[in-house]
Amino acid sequence: MLHELLLKRHSIRRYTDSPVDPESVRKVLEAALLAPTSKNKRPWQFVVVENRETLDRLASCKDFGTKPIATAAFAVVVVVDSSQSDCFVEDSSIAAAYMQLQATDLGLGACWIQVRNRFTADGTPAEDIVRETLGIPEMLTVECIVTVGHPDEERRPVDPEKLLWEKVHIESWKAVE
Ligand SMILES: Cc1cc2nc3c(=O)[nH]c(=O)nc-3n(C[C@H](O)[C@H](O)[C@H](O)COP(=O)(O)O)c2cc1C
Repeated sequence: MLHELLLKRHSIRRYTDSPVDPESVRKVLEAALLAPTSKNKRPWQFVVVENRETLDRLASCKDFGTKPIATAAFAVVVVVDSSQSDCFVEDSSIAAAYMQLQATDLGLGACWIQVRNRFTADGTPAEDIVRETLGIPEMLTVECIVTVGHPDEERRPVDPEKLLWEKVHIESWKAVE
């Protein structure tokens, strides 16, 4: 059930070293390609990386928050053409979220690694490092990297009682006191 899947989904940042079967890799990518986009422009592209050396280079695109890449069985780099759609951030984000959900449904773990608007300590854009590593043309935006693998950590499903219902306003805006 979708609701159970949503409760179960968590960012999984550590993976075992067992590979992910090709059919599951394909399903994760199928989820991305099934994602809705504004005006059905489908401005995204996806680069699948399994090569360990390449993954290690991708992990150096910023100083923090790339640990999941180190043990991922594979990663999907989400690339988008901002000249094709003014909703490029939304379009690419939905595809990334779909991949995470599909991975969870397959019993895999996944994590979103932000690339756009992230920099190394010396100010180098993470996007430049990812583009250079993979030969992605300059004019394309790198939104994020979705890491996937067999989970090597346990996360409990979210307790629905702990959801932030105060964020929900009924009929009109209610200021939080
Ligand atoms: C836009 C976005 C950017 C994120 N960037 C990173 C990241 O760079 N590295 C990382 O380890 N997790 C990243 N995350 C994962 C969040 O930290 C995580 O979703 C959040 O803490 C909630 O935890 P949960 O996914 O387990 O529910 C990102 C998530 C989103 C939606």
